[in-house]
Amino acid sequence: MYQNRRSFIKYNVKAQTKAIHAGARKDDAFGAINEPIYMTSNYRIPTDGSPVDWSGINSNIYARNRNINQAVLQDKLCALSGAEDCAVFSSGVAALAAVFMMFVKTGEHAIVSEVCYSATNILFRKILPENYNIQVTFVDSTDTEAVRKAIRPNTKLVHIETPGNPTTGISNIEEISNMTHNNGALLSVDATFAGPISIYPLKRGADIEIHSMTKYINGHGDALGGCVMGNKEIIELIKENAMVNFGGVLSPFNAWLINRGLTTLPIRMKQHSAVALKLAEYIEKSPATRFIWYPGLKSHPQHELAKEYMCGEYSGMLAFDIKGDEKTHTKFLNSLELVTHAVSLGDIESLIVYYDKNSDKLPHYPDIYKEGFFRLSVGLEDAEDLIADFEQAFKKCGLI
Ligand SMILES: Cc1ncc(COP(=O)(O)O)c(C=O)c1O
Repeated sequence: MYQNRRSFIKYNVKAQTKAIHAGARKDDAFGAINEPIYMTSNYRIPTDGSPVDWSGINSNIYARNRNINQAVLQDKLCALSGAEDCAVFSSGVAALAAVFMMFVKTGEHAIVSEVCYSATNILFRKILPENYNIQVTFVDSTDTEAVRKAIRPNTKLVHIETPGNPTTGISNIEEISNMTHNNGALLSVDATFAGPISIYPLKRGADIEIHSMTKYINGHGDALGGCVMGNKEIIELIKENAMVNFGGVLSPFNAWLINRGLTTLPIRMKQHSAVALKLAEYIEKSPATRFIWYPGLKSHPQHELAKEYMCGEYSGMLAFDIKGDEKTHTKFLNSLELVTHAVSLGDIESLIVYYDKNSDKLPHYPDIYKEGFFRLSVGLEDAEDLIADFEQAFKKCGLI
């Protein structure tokens, strides 16, 4: 009844076709084309006397171990990213924590991108060192030599974010994975800013690929989720231990919503990227601008690497700053009409946040950021309308 009806999908077709068809199950009961939502915490245990592993992840026993809606989403993500296997979690942070708790132990050392999501930062700056005696070195992972210098005999995990949140720096995955593997360590890559059909970290040598599915994968700003992808051995370990025993599993309803969002990811990414490039070019030329980093602009420090990794679609994330003082920055936020001042990213609508110069994270950032800056997640609106919104906001602030 639950057999995958599209097993050929993995190999033969393009991303948008995979996004629609991969993972879809054949519903013999009613012939439904769309996946039903299996809102059940338990499954009936077979009464034929066959042995049952109550903590097993391969049969339907309990929804913390396995759930059909999770499985459909996992299959679709594997087909899109080329991963062998995938585990989905209740949030991006649950996915990150699962990896960190499984692959670096007391007394061992981890190397982490200094520009990284705030929960990653806090876990590695405070909780893992203080509670579990894990040693950590933060490095600028866009500088491969800095990563090399940080490697110690007991380094077991290198965790990079690429593009980095919020500054969009791109790290060289091939070079970092070589040096990581030479040391017997694992490389995990949080590629949330790019999504699963862009950089393909696993194909470039990473062992683990992580996404907050709350962002581009779902894309509609209405569900939290996270995923970890890798080979069968790594993902089985994650499922059997982190998923079943830490318990941050994705609900069937959120799995269904995210699966639905994922069906349009390739066409959404094209629009996010096209609109972001036009807006980035406008911001770069504007006399109101102090600086801008967008991987699609020639002025981005790792533009050449981004070109190779992102194949002309540079996602919708950019970091920039405008001239003027803090009052001007606040006025600018309040003057935007189409763009909403809100955290999160990867949604259909454009969202913006400001990192002020007193933020405790900025001391670790490249100098250009230390005066504060905006992070913009460009949505799916028309580029001309967003440019007009910026134009009127710059005018209100007296910047043009
Ligand atoms: C790069 C990155 N990783 C992980 C996360 C955490 O994801 P979630 O909010 O789904 O827990 C975020 C959230 O913004 C993020 O930007």
